[in-house]
Amino acid sequence: MDFIEVIESKKLGKKLTDEQIDLFARAAASKDAKDYQLAALLMAIRLNGMDARETASLTISMARTGDMLKPDVGGIPVDKHSTGGVGDTTTLVLVPLVAACGGKVIKMSGRGLGHTGGTIDKMESIPGMRVELPEEEFIAIARRVGCCVVGQTSELVPADKRLYALRDVTATVDSIPLIASSIMSKKLAGGAQGIVLDVKVGSGAIMKTVEQCIALSQMMVDIGVRSGRDVVALITHMYEPLGSHVGNALEVREAIDVLSGRTSGPLLEVSLLLGEQMLILSRLADDAASARAMLLKKLEDGSGLAKLREMIQAQGGDGRVCDNLSLLPQAQAQMPVLSRADGHISAVDAETVGRAAQSLGAGRRTKEDIIDPAVGLVMHKRIGDFVCRGETVATLFVNDPKNAKTAADLVLGAITLSDGPVKTAQLLFAQVTKDRTVTYT
Ligand code: URA
Ligand code: CA
Repeated sequence: MDFIEVIESKKLGKKLTDEQIDLFARAAASKDAKDYQLAALLMAIRLNGMDARETASLTISMARTGDMLKPDVGGIPVDKHSTGGVGDTTTLVLVPLVAACGGKVIKMSGRGLGHTGGTIDKMESIPGMRVELPEEEFIAIARRVGCCVVGQTSELVPADKRLYALRDVTATVDSIPLIASSIMSKKLAGGAQGIVLDVKVGSGAIMKTVEQCIALSQMMVDIGVRSGRDVVALITHMYEPLGSHVGNALEVREAIDVLSGRTSGPLLEVSLLLGEQMLILSRLADDAASARAMLLKKLEDGSGLAKLREMIQAQGGDGRVCDNLSLLPQAQAQMPVLSRADGHISAVDAETVGRAAQSLGAGRRTKEDIIDPAVGLVMHKRIGDFVCRGETVATLFVNDPKNAKTAADLVLGAITLSDGPVKTAQLLFAQVTKDRTVTYT
């Protein structure tokens, strides 16, 4: 069997055999295989699709191109993954809360690319923090502290690194089987038994409709179940940035504000929804209501914040940031963004707000760009709020003032105003488990 036959089959819309799929995954991890042949097959898959059996087969073959961890963490290893958003710092809020409740979390995270932020970049804004740790070390930290947030090592799913980079430049990112196999191969290889997926819907997300998100979620749950893992997917809101802070150190600050009890709102609420499922999959709670009570207790008594401090210190970082936010990188200037009109906010395009933060230096345009951890913006208004002309809708945190005008224009352009009152945004749209899909309206 050669690779051209595999491309030919999918071009004609046929189903690929497990052997053909395995050849593809191994080729993606091999230096000898050609980018153009891999890209041709990616496009054939994007156009002609793959069924549940093919997608599960691709996921397992991809996972097996690298190490498959079986982490001994002294409990059920759980992980969570978001399909990517803006102002989406749930990881830094919920991972310490779940660990404070007795959960064992090895959170494998990525860097930001384009308008979405990446947890690894946010963590690196903490002085001294190490996020690229050898496998034995992060497993030991998860066992001792209860949680560890690390970057994907090069030994894990090399096939995905190559395919993801190719998809990014061949317009093949938005394929449900390719997204599902990319995410789930990394989760299976990371060794999590319980996997909670945060599938974002809306203007700032890869998937723009709830129906597409449900199809993606069902596929990912099915893949996990076929490999004996417990998987729950929640479809959550990305019609505006989740938290108010967008930018690396700024998002760490907001997570610390939430864990200190100074801030609540949608970021805390979505973190609790995801954390509840992590505690249930950890067999530490029987249902969402009791899981929520456990998480809220750890929030209120300060042990979630103490757990974040402990994790930062275990990873070489300065844990004092949890008590003294001025130890985080600070931008030189703050500039208000003033509304040019009166009205009720009906939408805040999350992708555009992400691009505003990116234009200040918070994100990369290419993989080689260096990010500025201090810059970004804080939104003061959300969907449902009323604003007056001249009122401050956001504050920019700026190091290079020549970027400020572009960022301010992007922020104002992201906001849609309407004449009549608008309801605040719905946060949870659906929950997908192996037995059922429940939608919320
Ligand atoms: N996140 C991933 O890791 N892979 C995708 O394909 C999409 C989002
Ligand atoms: Ca994220």
